[in-house]
Amino acid sequence: MKKQRTCVFKCASCGHEEPKWLGRCPECGEWNTLIETAVNSRSSPAGLTSPGSRGKGEAPQSLPLSSVDPQEGSRIGSGIAELDRVLGGGVMKRSAILVGGEPGIGKSTLLLQAAAAAETKGRILYVSGEESAGQVRMRADRLGIMGAAASRIEICCSGNLDDIEAIVNAVRPVILMVDSAQTLRTSEAGLIPGTANQMKFCSYELISWVKEHDAALFLVAHVTKDGLISGPKSLEHMVDTVLYFEGPVSAASDGDCRFLRAAKNRFGSVDEIGIFTMGEQGLSGVENPSLLFLVRREGELPPGVATAAVLEGTRTLLVEIQALTVPAKGAISRVFSDRIDSARVSRVAATLEKHLSLRLSGHDLYVNVAGGIRIAEVGVDLALAAAIYSARTGLPVPAGTALTGELSLAGEIRPVRRIAGRVKTARNLGFERFLAPPGEGVAPGMAVKDIKGAMKLLFT
Ligand code: TYD
Ligand code: MG
Repeated sequence: MKKQRTCVFKCASCGHEEPKWLGRCPECGEWNTLIETAVNSRSSPAGLTSPGSRGKGEAPQSLPLSSVDPQEGSRIGSGIAELDRVLGGGVMKRSAILVGGEPGIGKSTLLLQAAAAAETKGRILYVSGEESAGQVRMRADRLGIMGAAASRIEICCSGNLDDIEAIVNAVRPVILMVDSAQTLRTSEAGLIPGTANQMKFCSYELISWVKEHDAALFLVAHVTKDGLISGPKSLEHMVDTVLYFEGPVSAASDGDCRFLRAAKNRFGSVDEIGIFTMGEQGLSGVENPSLLFLVRREGELPPGVATAAVLEGTRTLLVEIQALTVPAKGAISRVFSDRIDSARVSRVAATLEKHLSLRLSGHDLYVNVAGGIRIAEVGVDLALAAAIYSARTGLPVPAGTALTGELSLAGEIRPVRRIAGRVKTARNLGFERFLAPPGEGVAPGMAVKDIKGAMKLLFT
């Protein structure tokens, strides 16, 4: 029989384990960090306690897919419609959801509001490693969380995994919220707190706990502005759903909109976005966001402005695209656009230059979207082209016009999904003209096949 090992050598820096003492840790490369440690039942190589772990002596088994319980009805409504929409219809039990975003964007606010509104009779444990219980209470008061909603939320202010595990086992929450992953630590994953390894180890333990106990986990992770986020990124593959919370570039100019997007979702699509506004009483969902990204004007539009009808998940949004061209200060003309991918802007500009002989070289091009929403849908191309053309020529796009269509490098306007729905939403919002590739609902005189025809129709 194999001899049971009683001690291992564990790296104080990264938690790596070796059966023999070594001068240098093969995992992280640190010198003299291996320390003799008694074997703990939990510290199998990565602290693994997988969801379906077997008892001793049982043989591994497979089973026919048809005999597996589909776990229907195992979603919990978060009580926040926009959050449920992004999650694909509520919080899936036994799942882990990572909520990433810049500090101050509203992650803690969102979770606390969800804790109060969640459609469950079970308990909700909010673990805060960043704020004191008093601070969380103050926020809850500000959000108007009181009565029964407040009393079923348990709060624990610690980042120590052992403490958290003890409390989790005592409270048995249905939803566990951890704010944030970066504050989690345990001596089992090395002595240095705040390392990526600590965060991964602790997160894994908590993810395993919810999977075994039919609960759900929300894990907050801070992402810094220019961060190629080594930390939270490394958690993405461990969780089931990754949500990113983002806001406008400058709060002053674009209001208080917040957008929740799924970067990964095992239980739903990643197309849907949640739209919120941040106000005095926290976040409120915007159910009908079509008007949020339009600027209401009387009479003629200024040059450089065009309205796109874009699809975000199942909703059509009308968004104002703004463009500005100025003579380039340097030898090279540049594109400044952070709400629409600059590569897309450059491509549309190049297509205009080529097919309409619009002189854009020698000019810097600035592009913005009203309301600060990021647009990646292909249907934005035609409106983007119209805004750039209008900015450069000084000719305004006629008021009451909405546009949709994808632009190919050959200058063709390509069809996009669900044109009829876009036409309908635009009409309901008072847009009389809808320029689009031929499709259902597009008036024959407004159907355009190439960029040349489209610009001619708009500007002459
Ligand atoms: P917070 O949830 O603390 O952000 P995060 O957890 O992502 O760091 O949000 C903080 C910001 O939200 C802060 O700038 C204040 C603002 N806020 C409001 O405007 N209204 C409110 O009701 C609350 C609670 C916060
Ligand atoms: Mg916070």
